[in-house]
Amino acid sequence: MQNKIDKTIVLIGLMGAGKSSIGKRLSEKLGLEFFDLDKEIEKQENMTVSNIFAAHGEEYFRKKEAELLSTYLDKAPHILATGGGAYIPEKNRSLINKKGIPVWLRADLEVLFTRVSRKDTRPLLEAGDKKEILKKLMDERYPVYETSEIVVDSLEIPHEITLEKIITELKKHGHLT
Ligand code: S3P
Repeated sequence: MQNKIDKTIVLIGLMGAGKSSIGKRLSEKLGLEFFDLDKEIEKQENMTVSNIFAAHGEEYFRKKEAELLSTYLDKAPHILATGGGAYIPEKNRSLINKKGIPVWLRADLEVLFTRVSRKDTRPLLEAGDKKEILKKLMDERYPVYETSEIVVDSLEIPHEITLEKIITELKKHGHLT
């Protein structure tokens, strides 16, 4: 399939929404490069996200996240999976909205909880009860994610169906031909 995309597709959403796995598959399907912002931060810092939080604190991580987000948004159109907090600061959000196409992978609490329970790599969820923290983050962040140009439900269904929904929306919004 020969597709043409006008801007970088930026996958946003809470931890466990499927941004990395959907992003990887979408990049294969559309023949575009894929980057995972958290992985790029880890490479640059030569440390895992958990260790960055532990050694330097969240503020330092957010600074690196904002810097690399800006760098990647200046690259040729590709697929970019972001960490759950990347779309929240106003500065990041307006950059994504201007230079990219925000695609929110919306998922409900049970789906997110099931997915994040498989790993202990997310520092924000290690500070207490995972489900309670997720619920609080949903309350805070969903009103912000909701402003995303494209919203697609990330359900416990084959990825192929979610990918088709994203592609349909990208075409509908005039970003993919
Ligand atoms: C965070 C989400 C994580 C990672 C960091 C902070 C957040 O990424 O960026 O632990 O603020 O929601 P994932 O959403 O890929 O787990």
